[in-house]
Amino acid sequence: MEESSVLRRANCRAKGGAPGFKVAILGAAGGIGQPLAMLMKMNPLVSVLHLYDVVNAHGVTADISHMDTGAVVRGFLGQPQLESALTGMDLVIIPAGVPRKPGMTRDDLFNINAGIVRTLCEGIAKCCPNAIVNLISNPVNSTVPIAAEVFKKAGTYEPKRLLGVTTLDVVRANTFVAEVLGLDPREVDVPVVGGHSGVTILPLLSQVKPPCSFTPEETEYLTNRIQNGGTEVVEAKAGAGSATLSMAYAAVKFADACLRGLRGDAGVVECTFVASQVTELPFFATKVRLGRSGAEEIYQLGPLNEYER
Ligand code: NAD
Ligand code: LMR
Repeated sequence: MEESSVLRRANCRAKGGAPGFKVAILGAAGGIGQPLAMLMKMNPLVSVLHLYDVVNAHGVTADISHMDTGAVVRGFLGQPQLESALTGMDLVIIPAGVPRKPGMTRDDLFNINAGIVRTLCEGIAKCCPNAIVNLISNPVNSTVPIAAEVFKKAGTYEPKRLLGVTTLDVVRANTFVAEVLGLDPREVDVPVVGGHSGVTILPLLSQVKPPCSFTPEETEYLTNRIQNGGTEVVEAKAGAGSATLSMAYAAVKFADACLRGLRGDAGVVECTFVASQVTELPFFATKVRLGRSGAEEIYQLGPLNEYER
């Protein structure tokens, strides 16, 4: 029997669109992309999941599509299928690009990843200009401004919708602070501001919840560990890439918050690297309130201690 006749009802469901959001992952076959695709397929807010990559997109899609969760999954391979992958999307998550090896800084990735991000953002501007964009590709401090320039040139730039993903810094900060305090990391909330590279990653230890205090030694240890969390993983992987699993977890945490914001939930607050007037810099990571149009409110830094200033 023809597969098409057996799957008639499945096709109706896919076309009719179950309630939920349409999400595309660009770079879905990579170290981050694969676990991210798996976790997004498990997210009940997602009705359609598009997986795009320049390699192995159909293999990953075949694998993920067998999971008995709600989202309909489709795969897209290579530049000719980029527009189909992006058309109609509400949220686009971008983990496409090369990762670091030991001895490299994130800036060493700039030349290759800037070009990749530019091409992908040109596709977004054309096919889903109103989508929220979660940009993971490094160096985030530079890829976000590049994406902004692409959207400006296309006439589709809306600063609230372009969000650099710094959630992994928060996830690490929560984990390391909880370790020092002897708490469950799920009870800890550490704002991390600035950017996503070395000293630009600034955990606000004076604003940790639940309220607590740290000795100068603890502050020094925690700040260094959080700032160098990425390098710690790059060195441990010894040439096999950078953080992928914790990053996929962090990306899903942030994407889920964006989808709850899009749904209209109240009080959705996360840190993200976004166009900002909080400092003299054009882009800065701070806490923002996520809503139907992206980062609807950008919070001030709040009181800083001497060390943080
Ligand atoms: P990876 O090499 O395992 O995967 C990258 C994927 O991107 C590959 O599947 C590759 O085929 C794909 N790709 C390359 N060019 C593409 C294009 N033009 N279009 C679509 N897909 C393309 O790398 P990874 O470990 O998944 O890391 C990806 C990026 O994420 C790196 O730049 C890394 O530095 C960054 N990263 C950021 C954070 C963060 O906190 N923001 C954390 C970890 C990693
Ligand atoms: C991270 O923080 O783990 C990522 O930015 C990857 C890297 O190169 O450190």
